[in-house]
Amino acid sequence: AIYKKNPIKQIYSDATEFYQHILLTTKLGEVALKYVQERELTSEIISHFKIGYAPKADNILYIFLKQKNYSQDLLEQSGLFIKNEKGKLLDRFRDRLMFPLCDELGDPIAFSGRRISNDSQIAKYVNSPETPLFTKSKLLYHFSEAKHAVNAENHLILYEGYMDVIAAYKCGIKTGVASMGTSLTSQQVYMLRRVTPNIIINYDGDDPGQHAMERAIKLFNYPNINLGIVSLPEHLDPDEYVKKYGPEKYVNEVKAAITSTEFLLQRMSKKYNLFNDRDKLDFINESIALIAKNDDPIEIDIYIQKLAQKLQVSVESLKARLLREQRKIRTAINHQKQIQALYPTDEVTPKQLDNVHSSSVSFTE
Ligand code: GTP
Ligand code: MN
Ligand code: MN
Ligand code: MN
Ligand code: MN
Repeated sequence: AIYKKNPIKQIYSDATEFYQHILLTTKLGEVALKYVQERELTSEIISHFKIGYAPKADNILYIFLKQKNYSQDLLEQSGLFIKNEKGKLLDRFRDRLMFPLCDELGDPIAFSGRRISNDSQIAKYVNSPETPLFTKSKLLYHFSEAKHAVNAENHLILYEGYMDVIAAYKCGIKTGVASMGTSLTSQQVYMLRRVTPNIIINYDGDDPGQHAMERAIKLFNYPNINLGIVSLPEHLDPDEYVKKYGPEKYVNEVKAAITSTEFLLQRMSKKYNLFNDRDKLDFINESIALIAKNDDPIEIDIYIQKLAQKLQVSVESLKARLLREQRKIRTAINHQKQIQALYPTDEVTPKQLDNVHSSSVSFTE
């Protein structure tokens, strides 16, 4: 049988070529080419990421695709158009730099378009709507390419933005991926885990980015995952960092990735005034609770020693606290197990928990 591409996929691959053609070879594309140069995107980058330009025009893509004999129905389904009051299809993307979003096979199935003007009244990025092929929560930008490079680099790197993936690529890091601006989903975490246990997260250095890393760390809480965290200075995002400090410095930042526990400890310590003893005690409680969740004795040793030095307290007293905390965690886990034994199939609700506590069931430590 003859293999026939999904027709919507065919539309997206034609549209991708069309937008690239506009960017690289037409008068209409000159304004975008200027933007591309300002952002230091080379022709090698443009071709690897299949970047294009949707010009300021009502229905130039529509006319192009119509002449390729796609049916009206199919064009409507593609998500590339918006229907006006008269039922006419108009191009959804106008005057935007176009980033194709590809599926696991590397085929374009959607677009994200960046405005090239600095008019902050209009959205910075516009995405294709979801279609049978495109589900936002299940797509990672540059995933299929990154997967192929993973053996050489031995990890995947998760970014916030497309431009960050591209900046990393310019530095020779080919394993960058990005979620869709929305916060990371469990499906995306699953996709990454299937490829490698070694994941580096390098979100923007600003506060929202750092906060989003805390959240992402929770989603990667699986026994075999080996997380590295890169926090860039001066609130820079990776793209800005590379532009300011160059590729070598950036590669060094990635090599200097820290463990998720160390990252969380650093964030935590910023909330406290460690010259104040009450604050210091609160910080110790919070940090010991975090360290106790770790099950690698070597890692625990490292954190305890660092903490002792930082806070000018003895390793022994921190270890005593740690033991107490570990016992608390074990007890909580045992409770959970006993509750599950009592209610083997049902999910345990808070109400059931209350019942168990007030009944005659006794727990042992
Ligand atoms: P540049 O300004 O082009 O360097 O983009 P950025 O990646 O630095 O953008 P930012 O850090 O503000 O946002 C990170 C990611 O969130 C982007 O890459 C987009 O995926 C997404 N995003 C940002 N702004 C918008 C928006 O206005 N609409 C949508 N849908 N997504 C956005
Ligand atoms: Mn390639
Ligand atoms: Mn950001
Ligand atoms: Mn950014
Ligand atoms: Mn940026």
